Amino acid sequence: MILILQLLLALSLRADGYDWYQVLNCAFSSSDLSDLEFIDTFYFNKDPVIRFNSTVGRFVGFTEFGVHNAERWNKGPFLQQERAELDRYCKPNVKLDITHILEKTVKPKIRLTSEKQASQGHPALLMCSAYGFYPPAIDMYWLRDGEKVTSDVVSTEEMADGNWYYQIHSHLEYTPTSGEKISCVVEHASSKKPIIVDWGGSFPDSDRDKIFIGASGFVLGIILSTAGFLYYKKKSPGQIRESSADIDPSGVLMSD
Ligand SMILES: *[C@@H]1O[C@H](CO)[C@@H](O)[C@H](O)[C@H]1NC(C)=O
Repeated sequence: MILILQLLLALSLRADGYDWYQVLNCAFSSSDLSDLEFIDTFYFNKDPVIRFNSTVGRFVGFTEFGVHNAERWNKGPFLQQERAELDRYCKPNVKLDITHILEKTVKPKIRLTSEKQASQGHPALLMCSAYGFYPPAIDMYWLRDGEKVTSDVVSTEEMADGNWYYQIHSHLEYTPTSGEKISCVVEHASSKKPIIVDWGGSFPDSDRDKIFIGASGFVLGIILSTAGFLYYKKKSPGQIRESSADIDPSGVLMSD
């Protein structure tokens, strides 16, 4: 990864449609700053005129005017000042930017859902989604009983939300077998360990809901019929006793 920090110094002179300005660059590609470079370029309109490059160690001119002034500046105190800028200006600022911008990470929120349940001859479809992470570099894959799944996986690219956060999605098509464990794994700079989310059920949410509603209806039915039966039992003995009271006297008569 090439990391370039560029600071545009507000040292710009504009007159009659002409623009003379200076651009300061601190460029590096490694976070240990071993290749950090200070580049100070003076432009006239869009053309570079003079440039100081810390690796070169002196001013270089690109136009006649630039060559003339580069020669002059290379003999003066400005050269010593520019040579000190790598340590004075670039190093502390780049270190701050590395810790506060480049190394900043935000952990993704993972969601594992069933898009389609397996039915006669058709495989199931699971979707793993990671939301709200930064930086965009991420690795999302599936495990089947601990083994990395290499086929029947379709993944999107990291998608920018437009607010520095990113999202990514992966689909797994599989034919469920009992006792098997399916997991979605996410590896991201925000977490030292891989983030593993296990697929909780063999039923997708919608089917689980249907089963729940069915079971609730069944339980409610049992409760209501039990209540009805108890009500019936409570009422009936009274009626029987009433009728037996009618019979009893005749029984008394008979024993007489
Ligand atoms: C600065 O000089 C080095 C050595 O010549 C060169 O590799 C590098 O590309 C230069 N950087 C710029 C921005 O011109």
